[in-house]
Amino acid sequence: MAQDKNNIRLTDKQSIPRVVAAMTPEEKVSLVTGMGLRMEGLPPGLLPPGDPKDADIPEKVPGAAGRTHAIPRLGIPSITLSDGPAGIRINPYRNNDSTKPYYATGFPVATLLASSWDTALVTQIGKAMGKEALEYGIDVILGPGMNIQRNPLGGRNFEYYSEDPLLTGHMAAAMVRGVQSTGVGTSIKHFAANNQEFNRMQLNTIVSQRALREIYLRGFQMAVKLGQPWTVMSSYNKINGLYTSENPALLKRLLRDEWKFKGIVMTDWFGGTSPVKQLNAWNNLLMPGFHAQSQALLGALQDGSLTTQTLDANVTGILQMVVQSPSFKKYKYSDKPDLTTNAAIVRRAAAESMVLLKNDSTLPIAPPGKIALFGVTSYKLIAGGTGSGDVNKAYVTDLDKALLQGGYVLDAGLQTEYARYIAEKTAQLPKPTTLFSTPPPIPEQQPDAEAISRLAKYMDVAIITIGRNAGEGSDRKVADDFLLRDDEHSMLKVISEAFHANNKKVVVVLNIGGVIETASWRRYADAILLAWQPGQEGGSSIADVISGNINPSGRLAASFPMQYKDVPSAADFPGKELPGGNDNGNPMMGRPAEVNYTEDIYVGYRGYTTQKIATAFPFGYGLSYTNFTYSRPRVTSAPGVTPIRVAVTVTNTGTRPGREVVQLYIAAPAIKQGRPVRELKAFAKTGILPPGGKETLQLTLGMADLAWFDDTRMAWVVTPGTYKIEIGSNAESVITSTEYKIGKEIIIEKNMAVW
Ligand code: BGC
Repeated sequence: MAQDKNNIRLTDKQSIPRVVAAMTPEEKVSLVTGMGLRMEGLPPGLLPPGDPKDADIPEKVPGAAGRTHAIPRLGIPSITLSDGPAGIRINPYRNNDSTKPYYATGFPVATLLASSWDTALVTQIGKAMGKEALEYGIDVILGPGMNIQRNPLGGRNFEYYSEDPLLTGHMAAAMVRGVQSTGVGTSIKHFAANNQEFNRMQLNTIVSQRALREIYLRGFQMAVKLGQPWTVMSSYNKINGLYTSENPALLKRLLRDEWKFKGIVMTDWFGGTSPVKQLNAWNNLLMPGFHAQSQALLGALQDGSLTTQTLDANVTGILQMVVQSPSFKKYKYSDKPDLTTNAAIVRRAAAESMVLLKNDSTLPIAPPGKIALFGVTSYKLIAGGTGSGDVNKAYVTDLDKALLQGGYVLDAGLQTEYARYIAEKTAQLPKPTTLFSTPPPIPEQQPDAEAISRLAKYMDVAIITIGRNAGEGSDRKVADDFLLRDDEHSMLKVISEAFHANNKKVVVVLNIGGVIETASWRRYADAILLAWQPGQEGGSSIADVISGNINPSGRLAASFPMQYKDVPSAADFPGKELPGGNDNGNPMMGRPAEVNYTEDIYVGYRGYTTQKIATAFPFGYGLSYTNFTYSRPRVTSAPGVTPIRVAVTVTNTGTRPGREVVQLYIAAPAIKQGRPVRELKAFAKTGILPPGGKETLQLTLGMADLAWFDDTRMAWVVTPGTYKIEIGSNAESVITSTEYKIGKEIIIEKNMAVW
């Protein structure tokens, strides 16, 4: 039957080819370039102008990061995209609407979630976040962030999960599954090797094929396979000389042909320099989209540097996403997400995932203890980092309020004094200079030794919080950030000496988004609780752990080194600026720069264990209020049969209920190209075991888990020899192990060169 040309509409997946055939070149080009960036506070002229026609179209969700164009005559709705990894980032207030604020839940940062080692918990968070997006009219969440934490100073590490690709891959897949179960899409980001912020839009990352495959691409590969995200966000940086968004080997051959990714790729905001190269690389969507890009694409269609066939392939991908979206399905969103339920989820998830780093018979402390509470962030908690990973939340629960609520007694004088001091200092803070500025920290007050001594006499315990914040646009520094500042050191010292002189304990709470130095001051503390940036219920979550209502079961997803110079990438971070200017006149592009990943595959614990460098707290480490013992691991599958199944029984031998994380590492036979001493290949977490309770955990390994990437053959290879299957409570302590023999070399997969 002949099609009525005027009646072609996007109705479902099957209708896509007809719709594409009916689109004009202008319509196609409008679909691959977003509707521009509208954000309050942007200085005029900073960003390239969007399509003038878009200026009059009202925003659907003010503060959302971007939208695609609608084409009403073909029934194509606009899709709304919003950040980010810790919750929905939208404006809380709308100009034309004074009836109510539009707050979103401030979820814990990704690094805290990864410390849970609990995929079910992360899926639950994803579900909660997805439902919130759905009720606010959002189609795709721009997250999870999942770059590898290559160096503790990475400014966006809090948005990422771990230094380890396996943990990263499982966490990201769990988050994607949770969000997408609600009918909202995700965008795993930033693909790939976007591990720092320094000159981020013109940074060339020089990295070997082996390190790419084993470390920097691995997590993304897992997330694609196990999570099937709707979208992938390409990164700002170049890899080995090419912008990721302009690289067909990365976006087409690797992502689509090899990994079978079915969704679309979008650029990071204003990423890359050539819209034509981007479309030719199958980077389907240019975000946030601006007029010069659509003009360039129309010109390229004319001169043949972009074919209709390629444009159609990119457009088809976008329409396949559109037909899945809530907007296409005309979902009637309420603007009333269930913030109360989500707050309860956040409170529990954060408490469970905190990492107890030290505990000399100090915690838990049952109420009603008398607590002397110190540190600015005890009274002004940092719920999450800054930049696009931030969330406009209704409130943040501070630790002082939460402790009072939990039945503890605080020193009222300290409370009043901190409130006065913080108000005074906050008023003096400079106005933010850029959209994503991180406010400078408020220094700690110099402790008056006599006053502290008096407090130490009548209070039961001191709790001191150390806080750190960071975010998009810059990396952290060693001085006064990775290292404690002098004011923090003296606060710890004076308080600790006074309390210890009175036989009272000192607890340090770390309210941080990235790894800091701990070795030089940890002796001052009897207990250290790593609370990370725990989200909007943070104070309550910390109080739940202090009281013992929740036994923390977090384990480190990143190593804490003894000193910065021990970090495997310390000598090559953040890289150097290069001569030359701005590629495309956009002032956001910054200057060209390069970084060389000379530590190669030896990132994080792979480096520390192999070079035999001691850490302050190793990857995978974390204490509990109870104790566990392990049985010997049993390989339950027949020799040579995959998956290899390993069973381990964990027993709670302590006096409190608790959960244990079982970590399975592989120590591979030596090869001349080198392999790390051990690598995490599987993990599992028990349920809550009562004292005396046992659980047998089944861990599985594929043959590919034994492989390394041989870049001379561009293949994943399992070398013959004896593999140790090690069960550890962290990357530096093997509790028990068994062996697995491989008789002859196995080639798992032969890959093409990326570029
Ligand atoms: C960030 C992305 C974010 C985007 C939209 C960029 O600056 O790098 O992570 O999703 O902005 O806000």
